[in-house]
Amino acid sequence: MSNLVGLVGWRGMVGSVLMDRMQAEGDFDLIEPLFFSTSNAGGKAPAQAKNETTLQDAFNIDALKRCEIIISAQGGDYTTEVFPKLRAAGWNGHWIDAASTLRMEKDAVIILDPVNMPVIQKALTSGGKNWIGGNCTVSCMLMGVGALYKAGLVEWMSTQTYQAASGGGAQHMRELLTQYGTLGAEVKALLDDPKSSILEIDRMVVAKQRSLSAAETANFGVPLGGSLIPWIDKDLGIGKGYDDAGWGTSKEEWKGMAETNKILGQGPDFGSTATPVDGFCVRVGAMRCHSQALTFKLKKNVPVADIEAMIAADNPWVQLVPNTREATIRDLTPVAVTGTMTIPVGRVRKLAMGPEYVGGFTVGDQLLWGAAEPLRRMLRILLAR
Ligand code: HSE
Repeated sequence: MSNLVGLVGWRGMVGSVLMDRMQAEGDFDLIEPLFFSTSNAGGKAPAQAKNETTLQDAFNIDALKRCEIIISAQGGDYTTEVFPKLRAAGWNGHWIDAASTLRMEKDAVIILDPVNMPVIQKALTSGGKNWIGGNCTVSCMLMGVGALYKAGLVEWMSTQTYQAASGGGAQHMRELLTQYGTLGAEVKALLDDPKSSILEIDRMVVAKQRSLSAAETANFGVPLGGSLIPWIDKDLGIGKGYDDAGWGTSKEEWKGMAETNKILGQGPDFGSTATPVDGFCVRVGAMRCHSQALTFKLKKNVPVADIEAMIAADNPWVQLVPNTREATIRDLTPVAVTGTMTIPVGRVRKLAMGPEYVGGFTVGDQLLWGAAEPLRRMLRILLAR
């Protein structure tokens, strides 16, 4: 195997994090990278290039066909346009993709190997070629509490998410920070005066939020700085779900159940019953970590200490945070977790509804385990065969 690996979308936000992680883990030592570009074909490839130092046209099917493996972080529109043409042209290589386009296709596996290595191995054995990264909230959640699913303990789970601006993209992060700056500047003089009225400050902030221009809210559509938005991704409409009177779910919420079950290799497509997963997905003013409050109904009464031990032992990245105020505010926040591979899980406790009801809270870097890391780990799995 010549290990010619095509990289598409390596300059974007997810792609840049992917490149950093590949560099840090020495992945480039094992491959001959072929860098593609949608806008600068013929330009100079980045420093990781070896023999192939010229950027290739990302829409050139013949150039793509040279690769045994292609990793794309270019986005869904690119996948929609190029992937079918590439397969139609007879390309039989491995396609590893961050975009959601192909995720729910029957011949695609949602990759999260610390959680679903058996599902990946089974697909590899039967000739699988399409490896798709999961939704960031789902991947981060399963890295944290996958142990409970693996043990077959979960009757259902409800998740309430607190999703960072980065989930929308680089421009969304900029917009959030700009709004914070604008709001801070609006009341700086009053903040500097300890005798000023907090209600006056509050009045000025909300007036400014409500008068932000279309340009200042172009990405989220409404102010996010100092606010929140309880809807993420498309509106799937009503009457398509469990209750024809009106399901009213967002696409992000729908992914919670669909992807969790697909990652775990369970549900009707696998000849088994799906675990119900539902809740509300909310955009908050965090930068790049997605957080989630989880409610489990377990199939039986399991002591909290046993639940904590199972979670802690599941994988090398999960970190059990003791359910104390001190540990929680130190370790279980986006600020503590951003830029790290750690997936803290804390606030684990029995809930008032009964002994089978368990709560927990988890945080994960949306760009690492939520996007880039499963892709490069799939590359390693393919290279190790
Ligand atoms: N859909 C996610 C979000 C990011 O908007 O936060 C990508 O999975």
